[in-house]
Amino acid sequence: MHKMVVANYKMNGDRKFYSRVLKVVNKYNKKDTKIILCPPFVYIPFMKLKSANLGAQDISSTVNNKSTGQIGPSMLKEFGVKYTLVGHSERRAEGETDETVAMKVKTAVSHDLVPIICVGEEKKGDKIDIVSTQVEKALSLVDKGEIIFAYEPVWAIGSGIQPTTKQINKAISTIKKVASKSGHEVKVLYGGSVNGNNFSEIVKTDADGYLLGGVSNRLDEFASILKEMQ
Ligand code: 13P
Repeated sequence: MHKMVVANYKMNGDRKFYSRVLKVVNKYNKKDTKIILCPPFVYIPFMKLKSANLGAQDISSTVNNKSTGQIGPSMLKEFGVKYTLVGHSERRAEGETDETVAMKVKTAVSHDLVPIICVGEEKKGDKIDIVSTQVEKALSLVDKGEIIFAYEPVWAIGSGIQPTTKQINKAISTIKKVASKSGHEVKVLYGGSVNGNNFSEIVKTDADGYLLGGVSNRLDEFASILKEMQ
Protein backbone atom coordinates (compact mmCIF):
# COMPACT_ATOMS: atom_id res chain seq x y z
CA MET A 1 0.00 0.00 0.00
CA HIS A 2 1.04 3.57 -0.66
CA LYS A 3 2.04 5.03 2.73
CA MET A 4 2.28 8.76 3.25
CA VAL A 5 4.67 10.96 5.18
CA VAL A 6 3.51 14.54 5.60
CA ALA A 7 5.93 17.08 7.06
CA ASN A 8 4.31 20.07 8.72
CA TYR A 9 7.08 22.63 9.20
CA LYS A 10 4.72 25.00 11.03
CA MET A 11 6.43 28.43 11.39
CA ASN A 12 9.97 27.08 11.15
CA GLY A 13 12.92 27.35 8.79
CA ASP A 14 14.48 29.83 6.39
CA ARG A 15 15.72 29.70 2.78
CA LYS A 16 18.91 27.94 3.83
CA PHE A 17 17.01 25.30 5.79
CA TYR A 18 14.61 24.59 2.92
CA SER A 19 17.47 24.16 0.48
CA ARG A 20 18.83 21.49 2.86
CA VAL A 21 15.36 19.91 3.01
CA LEU A 22 15.34 19.72 -0.79
CA LYS A 23 18.70 17.95 -0.82
CA VAL A 24 17.52 15.35 1.70
CA VAL A 25 14.12 14.74 0.14
CA ASN A 26 15.20 14.74 -3.50
CA LYS A 27 17.49 11.80 -2.66
CA TYR A 28 14.50 9.65 -1.75
CA ASN A 29 12.60 8.15 -4.57
CA LYS A 30 10.46 5.36 -3.32
CA LYS A 31 7.53 4.16 -5.31
CA ASP A 32 5.44 3.12 -2.36
CA THR A 33 5.97 6.16 -0.11
CA LYS A 34 4.30 9.45 -0.84
CA ILE A 35 6.13 12.38 0.75
CA ILE A 36 4.24 15.64 1.16
CA LEU A 37 6.06 18.75 2.42
CA CYS A 38 4.13 21.63 3.95
CA PRO A 39 6.43 24.64 4.40
CA PRO A 40 5.18 28.12 5.35
CA PHE A 41 3.49 29.82 2.36
CA VAL A 42 6.40 32.12 1.54
CA TYR A 43 8.80 29.22 0.91
CA ILE A 44 6.45 27.32 -1.41
CA PRO A 45 7.82 28.91 -4.63
CA PHE A 46 11.35 27.73 -3.75
CA MET A 47 10.44 24.07 -3.24
CA LYS A 48 11.65 22.33 -6.40
CA LEU A 49 10.77 18.79 -5.55
CA LYS A 50 11.61 15.78 -7.70
CA SER A 51 9.92 12.94 -5.89
CA ALA A 52 7.80 14.65 -3.26
CA ASN A 53 4.61 16.66 -3.29
CA LEU A 54 3.83 20.09 -1.96
CA GLY A 55 1.19 20.90 0.60
CA ALA A 56 0.06 24.16 2.19
CA GLN A 57 -0.45 24.53 5.93
CA ASP A 58 -3.80 26.24 5.51
CA ILE A 59 -6.18 27.60 2.88
CA SER A 60 -8.71 30.40 2.77
CA SER A 61 -12.26 29.38 3.65
CA THR A 62 -13.63 31.43 0.77
CA VAL A 63 -12.55 32.53 -2.67
CA ASN A 64 -13.71 36.02 -1.87
CA ASN A 65 -11.01 38.44 -3.04
CA LYS A 66 -11.74 40.74 -0.10
CA SER A 67 -9.84 38.48 2.31
CA THR A 68 -6.80 40.35 3.53
CA GLY A 69 -4.00 38.04 4.56
CA GLN A 70 -5.55 34.88 3.09
CA ILE A 71 -4.21 32.56 0.37
CA GLY A 72 -6.68 31.06 -2.10
CA PRO A 73 -6.67 27.72 -3.91
CA SER A 74 -5.73 28.98 -7.39
CA MET A 75 -2.66 30.74 -5.92
CA LEU A 76 -1.52 27.52 -4.30
CA LYS A 77 -2.10 25.51 -7.46
CA GLU A 78 -0.08 27.97 -9.52
CA PHE A 79 2.96 26.94 -7.45
CA GLY A 80 2.35 23.20 -7.70
CA VAL A 81 0.56 22.65 -4.39
CA LYS A 82 -1.66 19.56 -4.41
CA TYR A 83 -2.54 19.17 -0.73
CA THR A 84 -3.48 21.43 2.14
CA LEU A 85 -3.72 20.91 5.86
CA VAL A 86 -7.07 22.02 7.22
CA GLY A 87 -8.18 22.46 10.83
CA HIS A 88 -4.83 21.86 12.51
CA SER A 89 -5.32 22.09 16.27
CA GLU A 90 -3.01 25.12 16.34
CA ARG A 91 -5.46 26.91 14.02
CA ARG A 92 -8.46 25.65 15.98
CA ALA A 93 -6.78 27.01 19.14
CA GLU A 94 -6.84 30.43 17.48
CA GLY A 95 -10.59 30.22 17.02
CA GLU A 96 -11.10 28.18 13.86
CA THR A 97 -14.47 26.47 14.21
CA ASP A 98 -15.79 23.22 12.73
CA GLU A 99 -17.90 25.39 10.39
CA THR A 100 -14.82 27.21 9.06
CA VAL A 101 -13.03 23.88 8.69
CA ALA A 102 -15.97 22.59 6.60
CA MET A 103 -15.78 25.69 4.36
CA LYS A 104 -12.02 25.22 3.89
CA VAL A 105 -12.55 21.57 2.99
CA LYS A 106 -15.14 22.66 0.42
CA THR A 107 -12.80 25.32 -1.02
CA ALA A 108 -10.00 22.76 -1.35
CA VAL A 109 -12.07 19.93 -2.83
CA SER A 110 -13.88 22.18 -5.31
CA HIS A 111 -10.47 23.29 -6.65
CA ASP A 112 -8.97 19.80 -6.85
CA LEU A 113 -6.74 20.22 -3.84
CA VAL A 114 -6.68 17.34 -1.39
CA PRO A 115 -7.47 18.43 2.17
CA ILE A 116 -5.63 16.74 5.01
CA ILE A 117 -8.11 17.38 7.79
CA CYS A 118 -6.70 17.35 11.30
CA VAL A 119 -8.93 16.03 14.07
CA GLY A 120 -8.26 14.94 17.62
CA GLU A 121 -9.40 15.26 21.19
CA GLU A 122 -7.99 17.96 23.50
CA LYS A 123 -7.20 15.93 26.59
CA LYS A 124 -6.07 12.41 27.27
CA GLY A 125 -9.17 10.42 28.18
CA ASP A 126 -11.62 12.66 26.25
CA LYS A 127 -14.38 10.75 24.49
CA ILE A 128 -13.87 9.62 20.89
CA ASP A 129 -17.29 11.21 20.11
CA ILE A 130 -15.45 14.55 19.93
CA VAL A 131 -13.45 13.22 17.00
CA SER A 132 -16.56 11.74 15.34
CA THR A 133 -18.28 15.14 15.48
CA GLN A 134 -15.22 16.88 14.00
CA VAL A 135 -15.21 14.37 11.13
CA GLU A 136 -18.94 14.68 10.48
CA LYS A 137 -18.84 18.48 10.46
CA ALA A 138 -15.69 18.68 8.33
CA LEU A 139 -17.42 16.64 5.63
CA SER A 140 -20.76 18.42 5.84
CA LEU A 141 -20.31 20.58 2.71
CA VAL A 142 -18.70 18.05 0.34
CA ASP A 143 -20.14 14.95 -1.27
CA LYS A 144 -17.19 13.66 -3.27
CA GLY A 145 -13.46 14.12 -3.82
CA GLU A 146 -10.25 12.75 -2.33
CA ILE A 147 -9.99 13.44 1.37
CA ILE A 148 -7.37 12.53 3.96
CA PHE A 149 -7.74 12.80 7.71
CA ALA A 150 -4.97 13.08 10.27
CA TYR A 151 -5.71 11.84 13.75
CA GLU A 152 -3.71 14.22 15.94
CA PRO A 153 -4.72 14.13 19.60
CA VAL A 154 -3.92 17.61 20.88
CA TRP A 155 -2.30 16.22 24.04
CA ALA A 156 0.16 14.21 21.94
CA ILE A 157 1.38 17.17 19.88
CA GLY A 158 4.84 18.31 20.89
CA SER A 159 4.49 16.56 24.27
CA GLY A 160 6.51 13.42 23.67
CA ILE A 161 3.46 11.43 24.85
CA GLN A 162 1.52 9.16 22.54
CA PRO A 163 -1.64 7.11 22.55
CA THR A 164 -1.25 3.34 22.57
CA THR A 165 -1.44 1.39 19.31
CA LYS A 166 -4.90 0.23 20.39
CA GLN A 167 -6.12 3.81 20.95
CA ILE A 168 -4.70 4.97 17.61
CA ASN A 169 -6.33 2.06 15.79
CA LYS A 170 -9.67 2.74 17.48
CA ALA A 171 -9.57 6.40 16.43
CA ILE A 172 -8.62 5.44 12.86
CA SER A 173 -11.47 2.96 12.51
CA THR A 174 -13.92 5.47 14.03
CA ILE A 175 -12.86 8.18 11.56
CA LYS A 176 -13.19 5.78 8.61
CA LYS A 177 -16.60 4.59 9.81
CA VAL A 178 -18.00 8.10 10.34
CA ALA A 179 -16.64 9.27 6.97
CA SER A 180 -18.09 6.27 5.16
CA LYS A 181 -21.54 7.07 6.59
CA SER A 182 -21.38 10.29 4.58
CA GLY A 183 -20.13 8.44 1.50
CA HIS A 184 -16.40 9.10 1.79
CA GLU A 185 -13.68 6.50 1.70
CA VAL A 186 -10.79 8.23 3.43
CA LYS A 187 -7.18 7.60 4.37
CA VAL A 188 -6.19 8.34 7.94
CA LEU A 189 -2.73 9.45 9.09
CA TYR A 190 -1.44 9.56 12.63
CA GLY A 191 0.35 12.63 14.02
CA GLY A 192 1.64 13.67 17.43
CA SER A 193 5.20 13.32 18.78
CA VAL A 194 6.31 10.90 16.06
CA ASN A 195 10.10 10.71 16.04
CA GLY A 196 13.03 8.55 15.03
CA ASN A 197 12.86 6.58 18.30
CA ASN A 198 9.19 5.67 18.37
CA PHE A 199 8.67 5.33 14.62
CA SER A 200 9.16 1.56 14.64
CA GLU A 201 6.16 1.31 17.03
CA ILE A 202 4.01 3.79 15.11
CA VAL A 203 4.42 1.83 11.86
CA LYS A 204 2.66 -1.08 13.54
CA THR A 205 -0.59 0.90 13.75
CA ASP A 206 -3.29 0.86 11.06
CA ALA A 207 -2.39 4.42 9.98
CA ASP A 208 -2.13 5.02 6.22
CA GLY A 209 0.74 7.40 6.93
CA TYR A 210 2.17 9.91 9.38
CA LEU A 211 1.92 13.64 9.95
CA LEU A 212 5.23 14.84 11.36
CA GLY A 213 5.83 18.09 13.22
CA GLY A 214 9.03 18.71 15.18
CA VAL A 215 11.01 15.84 13.66
CA SER A 216 10.65 17.40 10.18
CA ASN A 217 13.10 20.07 11.35
CA ARG A 218 15.72 17.55 12.48
CA LEU A 219 16.90 16.49 9.07
CA ASP A 220 19.03 13.48 10.06
CA GLU A 221 16.17 12.02 12.07
CA PHE A 222 13.67 12.89 9.34
CA ALA A 223 15.90 11.12 6.80
CA SER A 224 16.06 8.04 9.05
CA ILE A 225 12.24 7.93 9.11
CA LEU A 226 12.12 8.14 5.32
CA LYS A 227 14.64 5.30 5.14
CA GLU A 228 12.61 3.19 7.55
CA MET A 229 9.58 3.56 5.27
CA GLN A 230 11.41 1.63 2.55
P1 13P B 1 4.84 17.06 16.71
O1 13P B 1 5.28 15.93 15.81
O2 13P B 1 5.90 18.08 16.95
O3 13P B 1 4.20 16.54 17.96
O4 13P B 1 3.70 17.86 15.91
C1 13P B 1 2.69 17.16 15.29
C2 13P B 1 1.92 18.09 14.46
O5 13P B 1 1.31 19.02 14.96
C3 13P B 1 1.94 17.88 13.02
O6 13P B 1 0.93 18.60 12.39
